[in-house]
Amino acid sequence: MSNATSASRLLASVSVLPVVVLQDATHAVPLAQTLLRAGIDAMEITLRSDAALSAIEAVAMEVPQMLVGAGTVLDIAQMRTVQAAGARFAVSPGASEELLSAACMPYIPGAATASECMAAQRAGYTLVKFFPAEAIGGIAALRALSGPMPNLRFCATGGINAANASAYLALSNVACVGGSWFVPEDHIATGDLRSIGRLAKQAAVLGRA
Ligand code: 3PG
Repeated sequence: MSNATSASRLLASVSVLPVVVLQDATHAVPLAQTLLRAGIDAMEITLRSDAALSAIEAVAMEVPQMLVGAGTVLDIAQMRTVQAAGARFAVSPGASEELLSAACMPYIPGAATASECMAAQRAGYTLVKFFPAEAIGGIAALRALSGPMPNLRFCATGGINAANASAYLALSNVACVGGSWFVPEDHIATGDLRSIGRLAKQAAVLGRA
């Protein structure tokens, strides 16, 4: 299976993907365990903090039931690094020709326009991250893209929350939604896993509906 199509297989049962920013790697394992208990079994840890790589490593080693991926992967060098750290998939906010053609692991490129969707499809991708979803037309844009691109599936991310997630998930071309609404950075920072657990359970229910 090529890396262009393997992410869609790997994440086939995932409908709600937490997009996590961790400032302290020691928060990673308890967070992953809290998410698992809430019924969320995949997570994207973004490379937006110095702690991200150690966080990915810790989850990969200590919480093997969690499908841990890396987000904000901007080039192939970073992709190799996150793969070595134990990430099982990689996500980008956009894409480059290099990433599309030389991905070395299951990969979800970002696409915000019809042209970017076409470039990803041309490279063999069947699942792309539609980012930043709410800012680029949201549900109406995804509905419009389904006509000319019936085979492309989206992970809609950016501005998704408990109020609008179900409407995205109801679209036939939306495979999953991603977001930080149930893993808020301030709750992570203060160790408020109880609130995260509650929000994550609600998100998991949306995903199953
Ligand atoms: C991402 O990188 O996917 C977004 O930052 C997540 O968007 P959100 O914070 O609006 O959920």
